[in-house]
Amino acid sequence: MNNAPIGIFDSGVGGLTVAREIMRQLPNESIVYFGDMARVPYGSKSKETVISFSEQIVRFLQEKEVKAIVVACNTASAFALPDIVSDVTIPVVGVIEPGAKAADAITKNKKVGVIATEGTVRSGMYAKVIKAINPEIQVFQKACPLFVPLVEEGLLYDSITIEVADRYLHDLLSYGIDTLVLGCTHYPLIRRTIQKVAGENVSLVSPAYETAKELEKIINENNINSSLESAVHRFYVSDSADRFKKLASSILPCDIEEVGHVNIEQYG
Ligand code: DGL
Repeated sequence: MNNAPIGIFDSGVGGLTVAREIMRQLPNESIVYFGDMARVPYGSKSKETVISFSEQIVRFLQEKEVKAIVVACNTASAFALPDIVSDVTIPVVGVIEPGAKAADAITKNKKVGVIATEGTVRSGMYAKVIKAINPEIQVFQKACPLFVPLVEEGLLYDSITIEVADRYLHDLLSYGIDTLVLGCTHYPLIRRTIQKVAGENVSLVSPAYETAKELEKIINENNINSSLESAVHRFYVSDSADRFKKLASSILPCDIEEVGHVNIEQYG
């Protein structure tokens, strides 16, 4: 069991920002990553659909005998985490609680901004969890749907992305936030652009770092640390592996050679 892999999933390639952090912080842990490239984006879908997609993926990951599951997708964490937790007996880590804890630790003026997909914003989950940690914090949310395609087009530092960020962040900045949660897997990839628009006085929080920390804590508590000297990572997608590989090479420090194809609907 201890040397079994960690299952990580996302609606596509963005969850590799979380996988990257887990590889960095837990280098002995093997990973099975699933990216739902055929059905991305989750951010504009209904709660019911995201729950049903997530449950199919969890069944696939269980078939791979993972010892824990990381829901790297913010939208899936916002909508489906309780259902996943009740479906399985292994530990499950989402990205929202770790991100919320980090925001609470960082904010000084207790005004926190959250940028995320439409689904995550609609769920209100970041605001709920941040306020449960500290009721004095005011949370201001903004859906930023154009960021995902801009990142996937590789326009990380482009003037178009700066212009879009300017419009999206305008209201949040006018509320005087001092902390901004990057509540979507893709946003850490445009961190520099977001920081430029938000200004140096706003601290950016990437839940990926805190999620890896939380996973480490859970692995230690459950005594399921891997004793492998070199971890083995496997990648699966529900659509073309080529597009996944191309985008993955700009996120991970290494190239992915093999990507398996999964007919995820068969896990319905
Ligand atoms: N992975 C999604 C998230 O973190 C972003 C992409 C999508 O909409 O599926 O919410």
